Amino acid sequence: MGANQGDEAGVLRAEHRALRAAMKALEFELGEEGGGTLTGSPRPEILRGFRDEVAAHFRLEESGGLLGDADRHDPGTARRVRELVAEHAAILASLDELVARLDAEQDGHSAAEVGAVLDALRAHESAETFQSRVYRETGRGD
Ligand SMILES: [Fe+2]
Ligand SMILES: [Fe+2]
Repeated sequence: MGANQGDEAGVLRAEHRALRAAMKALEFELGEEGGGTLTGSPRPEILRGFRDEVAAHFRLEESGGLLGDADRHDPGTARRVRELVAEHAAILASLDELVARLDAEQDGHSAAEVGAVLDALRAHESAETFQSRVYRETGRGD
């Protein structure tokens, strides 16, 4: 691993810590305490801020770091990386829809739906972390 790649890994690690903190803050906004039930709808500006943070996180991953160079991977890993990038678009689309509904004040059940997007994001992040770790350890990604 060259110095540049090491820097990128450090940036991505810090990014992922920041994203986990943002997810925790959003859960707090929803009223989740100690793994309890999500009860409240988020304030629109909070959800919009979270959406922008997630979008910036995905952009960073796609423009550099391990997800940005799918072409360099073997075919199986390149496919997996493309799937992870496709998940970015799906997660962002869900967040955009929830933000639009909150803006239109049609937020009847948004706490549970925001919780579902958070679950999808968490699953995405752990698949991605696994992919990145295997890549770092083997240099091949599978
Ligand atoms: Fe990602
Ligand atoms: Fe990520």
